[in-house]
Amino acid sequence: MDADMTDQTKTDTAQTGPAGLVGVSTEPGAKKPDPILVADSITRTFGGLTAVDVEHVEIQRGAITALIGPNGAGKTTFFNLLTGFDQPNTGSWSLEGKSLKGVAPYKVARLGMVRTFQLTKVLAKLTVIENMRLGATGQKGERIWAAPFKFLWGKQEDEVTNKADELLARFMLDKKREDFAGSLSGGQRKLLEMARALMVDPEVVMLDEPMAGVNPALKQSLLGHVKSLRDEGRTVLFVEHDMDMVRDISDWVIVMAQGKIVAEGTPESVMADQRVIDAYLGAHHDTDLSELDEARLEAEVEAEIAQEEDSK
Ligand SMILES: Nc1ncnc2c1ncn2[C@@H]1O[C@H](COP(=O)(O)OP(=O)(O)OP(=O)(O)O)[C@@H](O)[C@H]1O
Ligand SMILES: [Mg+2]
Repeated sequence: MDADMTDQTKTDTAQTGPAGLVGVSTEPGAKKPDPILVADSITRTFGGLTAVDVEHVEIQRGAITALIGPNGAGKTTFFNLLTGFDQPNTGSWSLEGKSLKGVAPYKVARLGMVRTFQLTKVLAKLTVIENMRLGATGQKGERIWAAPFKFLWGKQEDEVTNKADELLARFMLDKKREDFAGSLSGGQRKLLEMARALMVDPEVVMLDEPMAGVNPALKQSLLGHVKSLRDEGRTVLFVEHDMDMVRDISDWVIVMAQGKIVAEGTPESVMADQRVIDAYLGAHHDTDLSELDEARLEAEVEAEIAQEEDSK
């Protein structure tokens, strides 16, 4: 993203970002006013199990979208497919209208879409700054060694290092610069993964359970960092079981169960949606169901009050 594009994106976001989702249908696969990522007929089976079966989904540009659902719903598998870490049995998907079918993860990253992992993949035996420099290649985890990442070294090395240092300062990891990534706390690793993802200046940032294993103090700062991605005009898609976070920062929520998208909507509407409650009830889950129940109760009480007032 160059400077001009950043400005342009910011303007667009003001017009069609979060606010652009007002009035969008809450049916699974609902059309968005300005989708940056679109997927069709994506299926992935493991033996007899259909892990992902997504007919159609659109992700709104410049918004924060949460992907929620019970354990085993297929969220991580769907992330893997969209980012090229796994191949679907069927389907097509595109970023900015460009097909990503068969595109390798590091190329997906260079095209503007990066992701973090449910189990962080910082390289423990490399220092923090070394992890950051490798982020510039769009490569993650063990696959990095197979990457043709030489293209970024040499004369661009200073530029890469400067950018890495800026991001480390922003994520308050600058004091850890020379420490091995393996010595960081769980929360700091999450921050490092997010910082590293930003090395390629992505349009779309996908986060798989950014809050898992993060202590309450760091949670607040992580929330701030995710919001700041949107403020910069980026699109965020994140998987999360922490409903407080979902409610706090999402402009839109997409619900998966048994591989399918079963509901979409604003956080408030989704948490009160019977299809969502059913999806969680039928499955093993980490999510605090009482919150969903509370949201439904609130909605029922509000409806009753409205009815009473109507009948007056
Ligand atoms: N490599 C694999 N081989 C076989 N089965 C797999 C594989 N990866 C995922 N699965 C299965 O696919 C289903 C979806 O898994 P996935 O990890 O995508 O769920 P999830 O929604 O991310 O769950 P969680 O919230 O627990 O992270 C599960 O039943 C899982 O056991
Ligand atoms: Mg998962």
